[in-house]
Amino acid sequence: MTGGMRIAIDGPAAAGKSTIAKLVARKLGYTYIDTGAMYRAITYKVLQNAVDPHDEEAIAQLVGQAEIELQQGEQAQKVILDGRDVTEVIRSHEVTSQVSAIAALTSVRQLLMKKQQNLAKDSSVVMDGRDIGTSVLPDAELKIFMTASVEERAERRLLEEKQRGNTVDYETLKGEISARDKADSEREISPLKKAEDAIIIDTTGKTIEEVTNSIVEYAEKRLAR
Ligand code: CDP
Ligand code: CDP
Repeated sequence: MTGGMRIAIDGPAAAGKSTIAKLVARKLGYTYIDTGAMYRAITYKVLQNAVDPHDEEAIAQLVGQAEIELQQGEQAQKVILDGRDVTEVIRSHEVTSQVSAIAALTSVRQLLMKKQQNLAKDSSVVMDGRDIGTSVLPDAELKIFMTASVEERAERRLLEEKQRGNTVDYETLKGEISARDKADSEREISPLKKAEDAIIIDTTGKTIEEVTNSIVEYAEKRLAR
C-alpha cells in the first residue's frame, strides 16, 4: 500500500462515524466504505422478500444472491441493491429496528466481511462499522473507536429525523439507540468492541470539523513514519 493506508472507524450508533469517515476520505483522496449500509441493504432485502428473520438458511440464500454496490458521489454515497437505488429506503425505521438481528447471523457476516475485505484489497480506504478494526481489517494502519454520550447521540438523531419531516420523541430514540448498541455489543460473532490498538475519540461536544481534522492529523503522522 504505497503512499496510502487503511483507516478503520468503529463505534456505537450516531457517534459520527459515517459523517466523519466520508470527510476524512475526501480530504485524503481515499475511498469511503459504509459497511452499515451493506447490513442495512441486506436487511431491506430480507424484509422485501418477507423472509422469516429467524430462517437463517433462507436468509443466507438471499444474501448469496444480493448484489450490493456502493457508488461514490460528489457529496453522498449511493447504495445500489440488485441494480436499484436503495440509499434512502435503507434508513427507514423498519430497517433500523431489524438490522441488528440480521447482522448477528453468521452467514450474513461471513459474506459481507468477504465483500468488505475485497473492497479494501487494492486501495486506500476509510471504512466504518462495528467490527472493522477487530475483524474485517485487523491489520489496518489506523484504527479509531468513536464514541459520544448516548444523550448527545439521541439529540443528533432527533435533529436528523426532524429534518426528514418525521416526528419521533427523544426518549424513544434514546431507548432504540441503547437497545441497538446492546445487541451489537453482546452478539457472539464480531461484536462491537474497541480493538486493542484503536485510538478512542469521544465526539461529545466536538464539531464535525474538529473530529475530522484530528483523524486526518493521525493519518498524516502515520504516513510520515
Ligand atoms: O448509522 P447507524 O449508526 O445507525 O448504523 P449503521 O452504521 O448504518 O449500522 C446499522 C447496523 O448494522 C448496526 O446497528 C449493526 O447491527 C450492523 N453493523 C454491523 O453489525 N457491523 C458493521 N460493520 C456495520 C454495521
Ligand atoms: O455513522 P454514525 O451512526 O456513527 O453517525 P452519523 O450518522 O455520521 O452522525 C449522526 C449525526 O450526528 C449526523 O447528523 C451528524 O451530522 C451529527 N454529528 C454531529 O453533530 N457532531 C459530530 N461531531 C459528529 C456527527
